[in-house]
Amino acid sequence: MVVKKVTTSDLIEMKKNEEKITMLTAYDYLMASQLDECGVDLILVGDSVGNVLLGYENTIPVTMEEMIHHCKAVSRGVKRAMVIGDMPFMSYQASIEEAVRNAGRFLKEARVEAVKLEGGREVFETIRRIVDSGIPVMGHLGLTPQSVYKLGGYGVRGRGEKQALKILEDAKGLEEAGVFSIVLEKVPASLAKKVTEQIGIPTIGIGAGVDCDGQVLVTHDMLGLFEKFKPKFSKRYSEIGKEMKNCYREYIEEVKNKKFPGEEHSY
Ligand code: KIV
Repeated sequence: MVVKKVTTSDLIEMKKNEEKITMLTAYDYLMASQLDECGVDLILVGDSVGNVLLGYENTIPVTMEEMIHHCKAVSRGVKRAMVIGDMPFMSYQASIEEAVRNAGRFLKEARVEAVKLEGGREVFETIRRIVDSGIPVMGHLGLTPQSVYKLGGYGVRGRGEKQALKILEDAKGLEEAGVFSIVLEKVPASLAKKVTEQIGIPTIGIGAGVDCDGQVLVTHDMLGLFEKFKPKFSKRYSEIGKEMKNCYREYIEEVKNKKFPGEEHSY
């Protein structure tokens, strides 16, 4: 059966109809196909793959090759959801030409439908040129983890009038530059509400309150699979990490004590 893919116009319609948009992260075929089967609207192959799967301290070291590798696996598992590839640090900052070429690789090689990149006014022109090349772009404001050293940490952004106004103006500028949606990360709920009301494209919140047009979480966090990180904004729907470790311990114990394999597992 041919399944209709979620498109950028579907997302605008959902905003108009006040239907909440759901987004989760995936880095591999299996998780992506599960999320798609369950009906999530957007799947983000986040550069959070760096912290969550690859063991880096933050997202800075993630490379284009790593992102393309994970995006390929995810796009193979998805029929309905829109798949968005996160452009890694230094794949779009050095020059517009390089940014357009790298964005193109996400669509041509990794077969995703859109890219996401972080930043406000400093990336408007880059976004215009990527969108002009026919590539849908999602923006990302508020806490932008690729700028962790410049920001001085992972604190809430947009507190105080000056910072809030900058985020509001950046959101309007991103819309004008052509993004189809904006992730708002770790900003006060009141500011996220204001941004959401004042732009025509959907906002997707993470730690940005209930009034955004949609929500995103890192799937490994919400499953309790990535146990190291427990941010206030991420609800734990399960403790799968603990459950997995129980299985490993049971297996080790059974092999050591010759309880596994049993008759039923032997030929
Ligand atoms: O990399 C990522 O997973 C993200 C989400 C947290 C929005 O950017």
